[in-house]
Amino acid sequence: MMNYVVTTSNRPKYEQIVAAKKIAEEYKVKFIKRKSIGSYVAENDIDFYYILDKNNQLKIYDGKEMFFFHPSMSKVRQKNLKDGQRDHLIESINPAGDEKILDLTFGLGSEALLMAKFLTTGTVTGIEASIHIYRIVSYGLKNYPYQYEWLKEAASKIEIINMNMKQYLKEEADDSFDIVYCDPMFDIPILKSNSLNPIRKFASYDTVEDEDFENMRRISRDKIIIKSRVTDRLFKKINEYGFENINGSKRSGIMYGVMSVK
Ligand SMILES: C[S@@+](CC[C@H](N)C(=O)[O-])C[C@H]1O[C@@H](n2cnc3c(N)ncnc32)[C@H](O)[C@@H]1O
Repeated sequence: MMNYVVTTSNRPKYEQIVAAKKIAEEYKVKFIKRKSIGSYVAENDIDFYYILDKNNQLKIYDGKEMFFFHPSMSKVRQKNLKDGQRDHLIESINPAGDEKILDLTFGLGSEALLMAKFLTTGTVTGIEASIHIYRIVSYGLKNYPYQYEWLKEAASKIEIINMNMKQYLKEEADDSFDIVYCDPMFDIPILKSNSLNPIRKFASYDTVEDEDFENMRRISRDKIIIKSRVTDRLFKKINEYGFENINGSKRSGIMYGVMSVK
C-alpha cells in the first residue's frame, strides 16, 4: 500500500483548492494545504502526493520525479508519419476508420491517441491496471489544454477503464472488438530518455499468459497485435503462438506481432 495525500501548486486560486479537496475526498485521502506540504511529508510516512496545478492539470510528485499526462509521444509519431516515415503500429492495424480497438495496457495513452487519430466512427477502449496511472492519464486526457485539434478529437474517441486486463479479457463477450492491442512493460526496460520512466514506479508488470492470449483471440474479430522487445520472454511466445507478421525495426529491437483471427 502506498501512502499519499492531495495538495495544490503554490499560491493556489480558490477554485483550485475546492477542486483539489474534491479529488482528495474522492480518493479518500487527506487534503494538505500547499504551504504545509513540506512539513507534512517530513513528519509523515508519505510515498508521494497528487498536485492539482493552476492549469487544472493533475500530477504526482514523489520527491524526485513528476508524473503527469502529456501527449508528446503521439505528437512525435504523428509528425514522423506526416514526414513520410513508417509507423509499425499504424501499419499493423491498417485502419479503415471504423474499428473498435481494445488497448489492454493503456499506460500514458500515447499509442491510443495515435490509433484514435485514424478513426472516424471507431473507438478505443483502454484498460489500465494501475489506479495512479489511470487517474493521472484519464484526468489528463479530459483536461489537457490541447494545442492541436486532432489530439482533442482523438482523445474524445477514447474511454479508459481501471481494471486488470486479465479480468477484463475473461469477462468480455466473443467478437467484441476488431483489434486487440497489448503492450506490457518490457522485461528489460529501455531507460534512456524514455517517456515511460515516470510510470515505472506505479505500473503493473504482468505478462501475457496462454489464457490471456486465448481470450484475446476469442474477443477479437479481426487482429491481435502484441508489442514486445526481442530480448523479452514475450517475444518468444509471439513466435510460439504463430503470429503471422512481426513488424518493427531491427535497430530498436521493438516488434509488433500481428495475428489475423478472421
Ligand atoms: C508499456 S506501458 C504501455 C504504454 C502505452 N502503449 C503508451 O503508448 O503509453 C504498459 C502499461 O500497461 C499496464 N499494465 C500492465 N499489465 C497490465 C494488466 N494486466 N492489466 C492492465 N494494465 C496493465 C502498466 O501498468 C502500464 O501502464
